[in-house]
Formats: sequence, structure tokens, C-alpha cells
Amino acid sequence: PYLLTESDYVHQDALSYPFEERGLQFGDGVYEVIRIYGGRFYQLHDHIDRLYRSAEAIKLEVPYEKAELLEKLATLLEKNSVTTDAKLYLQVTRGSAPRDHAFPVGVGANLYAYIADLTRKTEEMKHGVSVITHEDERWQNCYIKSLNLLPNVLAKQTAKEHGAYEAILHRGERVTECSSSNVFLVKDGSVYTHPETNQILHGCVRTRVRTFCQEAGIPFVEQSFTVEDLQDADELFLTSTTSEIVPIVKVDGSAVQDGKPGDLTQKLQRAYEADAQ
Ligand code: PDD
Repeated sequence: PYLLTESDYVHQDALSYPFEERGLQFGDGVYEVIRIYGGRFYQLHDHIDRLYRSAEAIKLEVPYEKAELLEKLATLLEKNSVTTDAKLYLQVTRGSAPRDHAFPVGVGANLYAYIADLTRKTEEMKHGVSVITHEDERWQNCYIKSLNLLPNVLAKQTAKEHGAYEAILHRGERVTECSSSNVFLVKDGSVYTHPETNQILHGCVRTRVRTFCQEAGIPFVEQSFTVEDLQDADELFLTSTTSEIVPIVKVDGSAVQDGKPGDLTQKLQRAYEADAQ
């Protein structure tokens, strides 16, 4: 497989970095995960716009202009003859330089993008998943898709150790999102989710869900809810590029209603399915 880097396309065996690399040593960089359906990018522009917003927020210059990057990514698909479902991972770091916390001077950013296989979460989407609740221990700039993922990693691992698929994060009583997805609560026919503040990642699938709701006349309320609200939710679901739309049927061991995926969640899943075709 070929990767795109800051200077050229490189075969994966030929890619190497000095051991002093700011992504490795500081998590000093930003990233994106983009879905590919049938050899075509899904929501490409939303992801690339967010990449540039994240980079700007940490004063990092992406080595390509936006239009050029879009073109290069299209070529990367061709070079790797991708015709099926897959995902693209892309990261930009502040480059390679002797270790020092402050930004290096005169050093260009490192970028790489590669395409990886992806198994669709078919069973999870159909039957729903269990989640746990977990304190949101992250910083105040969660809208930046930063490479610093340690709190997310630890929360996801705790979920896994409890036999759960995800961790719903909360700051005090207020639910923000999950460790690698956004979370939604359905009550009396309305969909609730945390507003797009600095406390959550502004998810691309979240944006699509808002549109699906608007198109179907379902009230979409960007208002946070509490851990307590989870207990009498009619339905709960989560979204992300890799999970798509997954029903949540159990929280901390207690079933959500009858413990089956809800009707409104399934309706949104059908809307997604049609959109991603
Ligand atoms: N995660 N919130 C967090 C903290 C995330 O890491 C992600 C995505 C999302 C959903 O965003 P989107 O709908 O744009 O994928 C929400 C990616 C998939 C990852 O880290 O692998």
C-alpha cells in the first residue's frame, strides 16, 4: 500500500521518521478518520474542513493547500486501487526536531495518510451495544481532533474491561460525548445531544444525523442531558465514522427500556444507509 506524505507518495515499507518526532513525543498534531464506501469518500469535505480547523487551533500549518490535499487523496485511492469499503487515516504533526516543548523553528509539518481495511459493525448496528458511564477527564478543547488521546484510550479500555462497547463521558452530571463517538438521547420523539461547544468533537456523522432529523421532521435539540436522564431515555444511540449509527441498549448494566434498538434510531440508521450508498 502507498501512503501520502508531506512531500510525496511513499510505499509503506519505505516510510520512516527520526525518533525525535513531535507526534510521537508530544502528541503534537491533529488527525482525521474518513470513511470510504464502494471506493468513494463519504463526507470528505466535512472531514478536511475540520482538519484545517483543528490545525489552525493548535497553530499548525498543514503542508498542502486544501484543494491540493483533496486532489492528492483522490489519487491515493486510485494508486491503491480501492474499490470497496475502507477508511482513510490522516495525521499532521509539528514535524521532526530535537525534543523541546516549544515549537521548533524552521521545521515543516509531517503528514501521512493511508487507507486501511474496515469491518462494518453489522452486529452492533443491528442488536445494539452496552456502554458504561465514565468521568470526562479530558482538557477544555475537545473540538480539536488532537493526537493526544490518552483520556479517551483509558476510558475505552475501562469500557472494554466491563464488556462494554463504549464509555459515555460526563463532566460532573452533564454528558458530553463518548470516548470516540458522539451520543444522543431520544425522549418523547425528540433527539437530544450536546451542543457544538469546545466540550465535544463536532462529529461529521452527528452533522448528518442533524440533517436526517430535519428532513424527517424530528426535533433535534442541541442541549446537554445528565447521567440521570440516561435512565429514563426512550432510546440512546452513538455515532462515528467507524461505528456509523449504533443503538445503545444497556448503560452500566441496566437496560434502556426493553433493551432493544429503538424505532427512531432504526429510522436514522436507514437514512444513513441511503445517504452512504
Ligand atoms: N473518532 N467524538 C470523539 C471523541 C471522536 O474521537 C469521534 C471520532 C467522534 C465522531 O466523529 P465523526 O462522526 O466525525 O467520526 C466523536 C474517530 C472515528 C476515531 O478516533 O477513530
